[in-house]
Amino acid sequence: MLLRSPSFFFDRSPMSQTSAFGAPAADQPLISLAIERREPGPRDVSIEILFCGVCHSDLHTVRGEWGQSEWPIVPGHEIVGRVSAVGAEVDGFAVGDLAGVGCLVDSCRTCASCVEGLEQYCEAGNVQTYGGLEKETGRMTHGGYSSAIVVDQDFVLHISSDVDLAATAPLLCAGITTYSPLRKWGAGPGSTVGVVGLGGLGHMAVKLAAAMGAEVTLFTTSPGKADDGRALGADHVVISTDPEAMAAARGTLDLIINTVAASHDLDPYIATLKRDGSIVLVGAPPEPHPSPQVFSLIMSRRSIAGSAIGGIAETQEMLDFCAEHNLGSDIEMIRMDQIDEAYERVLTSDVKYRFVIDMASMPAAPAS
Ligand SMILES: NC(=O)c1ccc[n+]([C@@H]2O[C@H](COP(=O)([O-])OP(=O)(O)OC[C@H]3O[C@@H](n4cnc5c(N)ncnc54)[C@H](OP(=O)(O)O)[C@@H]3O)[C@@H](O)[C@H]2O)c1
Ligand SMILES: [Zn+2]
Ligand SMILES: [Zn+2]
Repeated sequence: MLLRSPSFFFDRSPMSQTSAFGAPAADQPLISLAIERREPGPRDVSIEILFCGVCHSDLHTVRGEWGQSEWPIVPGHEIVGRVSAVGAEVDGFAVGDLAGVGCLVDSCRTCASCVEGLEQYCEAGNVQTYGGLEKETGRMTHGGYSSAIVVDQDFVLHISSDVDLAATAPLLCAGITTYSPLRKWGAGPGSTVGVVGLGGLGHMAVKLAAAMGAEVTLFTTSPGKADDGRALGADHVVISTDPEAMAAARGTLDLIINTVAASHDLDPYIATLKRDGSIVLVGAPPEPHPSPQVFSLIMSRRSIAGSAIGGIAETQEMLDFCAEHNLGSDIEMIRMDQIDEAYERVLTSDVKYRFVIDMASMPAAPAS
């Protein structure tokens, strides 16, 4: 049998050079890079990127904490921009439209999960916005720390022209990752929802749960964030390092969304669930959690679950919900060359509450 490189099979479209910022290796800071984007095919939308949020997953990925094996990695999956070109068969977008791209750029579209609109759980494996395998070219996908991206129209979101674009970018990951479990587990009037960690995901979870009508308890390790937590919509703030405050919250919650990016003891949070309550893990630390003890689940028929981002239809629903409720992320805008400093602040839980890169600050790609 004749062996051929994947690019022989897939590499059928011409490429265009794009300025980007990425990690050349796991232990190196991000640098200015030239990457290649495919020319838009018949169903593709070309987007000039205006803003891109900085997710803790970007940091886990570029530093190889989740087991990546291929670099360079150009992260970024909270993308908002303007359509600059469309393929001949594109009917949902036109040049000049605002558009968003989240964590997914493709999936098999035929498995049971895809058919249900749950592309994030595609049984054949979806194509992530960065670090995935681009079907059209056989190359690794590159994310939103770049000046432009090309995406199949089925994975492009509509962004209202009435919203703050920079504050909307983080909704494409932090927003949908918290919206989806809040909806799935029925957050709303009469329900009590706990949120663990006030970072990018956590502050959106607080805002969204409050907007859905739930009574919200924020758990934070940072006493200095308590006032912000209340201003964002929390009815109660519990400093999770205070055992008395944790004891006072026992048995009060129907649902907890845990957004913490580091391994930690889950039992103190599980104790705050009511009988039949659920703790949903969305934080994805590289190391396992040391608990739960099974008795913390058994004795009150509690559940522990996980949840990944959201499907494309639900992401659009979330964007529309946020536009209707005037919800965006609380952001700190940075220049592209401030990314390493931003990563260090994310690691010390010092972000209020999402860094967003102004893509106008992207340096021109180095000559190759
Ligand atoms: N499931 C998914 O689909 C999905 C999607 C996106 C992101 N993620 C993951 O979700 C996690 C959070 O992402 P993010 O961008 O929101 O991160 P982030 O902005 O860094 O927020 C995490 C927050 O967790 C709290 N925290 C950090 N270390 C802690 C510790 N040792 N013990 C207790 N609390 C701690 C801090 O809040 P306080 O200061 O308030 O304690 C911190 O601000 C990451 O692991 C990311 O990869 C998962
Ligand atoms: Zn993310
Ligand atoms: Zn599928």
